[in-house]
Amino acid sequence: MVLVTDTSGRAARRQRHWDRQAGSYDRQMSAWDRKVFGDSREWACSRASGSVLEVAVGTGLNLPHYPADVTITGIDLSDGMLDHARRRAADLDREVTLRQGDAQALPFADASFDTVVCTFGLCAVPDADAAIDEMVRVLRPDGRLILVDHVGFSAWPLRAVLWLLERFTIPLAGEHFLRRPFRTVVARGLEVAERERFKLGFVERLVAHRS
Ligand SMILES: C[S@@+](CC[C@H](N)C(=O)[O-])C[C@H]1O[C@@H](n2cnc3c(N)ncnc32)[C@H](O)[C@@H]1O
Repeated sequence: MVLVTDTSGRAARRQRHWDRQAGSYDRQMSAWDRKVFGDSREWACSRASGSVLEVAVGTGLNLPHYPADVTITGIDLSDGMLDHARRRAADLDREVTLRQGDAQALPFADASFDTVVCTFGLCAVPDADAAIDEMVRVLRPDGRLILVDHVGFSAWPLRAVLWLLERFTIPLAGEHFLRRPFRTVVARGLEVAERERFKLGFVERLVAHRS
């Protein structure tokens, strides 16, 4: 299926990129998870409750970490990634609603979810601020937004290296390294309950509440 929200063909190219990554994604990610992101999947999922929307769910690497009593809906641009997530949900014997869609235009009514989770997704979505606006829109009042991503190093020389890297990764793979979801969350008036930054500031994770 090709998204109709982007008539330029860029969305279709991005979908094809992630469809191609789907087979090797878990292998690539396991080294990052082990060496850089640590316990971030457990950290994020253990804070989810009620009806949960996971945005840019990918191959469903977070699925094993959710509490048993939450209901999970996952959305992703790529059918290839979603196929892996479907198999993972079946292996876990867990009922998960998985559908294709765009994080920048979520196909859900306002105030539909108790928790919205997004891990390592905002670095890949073209307009991360629009995606955060959508996550806030579908959260119930007092709902919880849980974000984990790589956000650039604290020290400027290291950020400069990432800036150079982005000259290649954005056009080739849509991958951003210097985004700061935290600033958007604060600018939108959410109350940040928890925030951690580690690995020289490269990884940031936060929990914020919609008032
Ligand atoms: C780096 S992967 C992260 C996957 C997963 N969240 C994880 O933690 O492993 C980025 C994901 O974002 C998805 N994605 C990229 N642009 C998107 C968009 N506009 N809407 C929804 N998903 C998108 C890709 O298909 C891919 O599955």
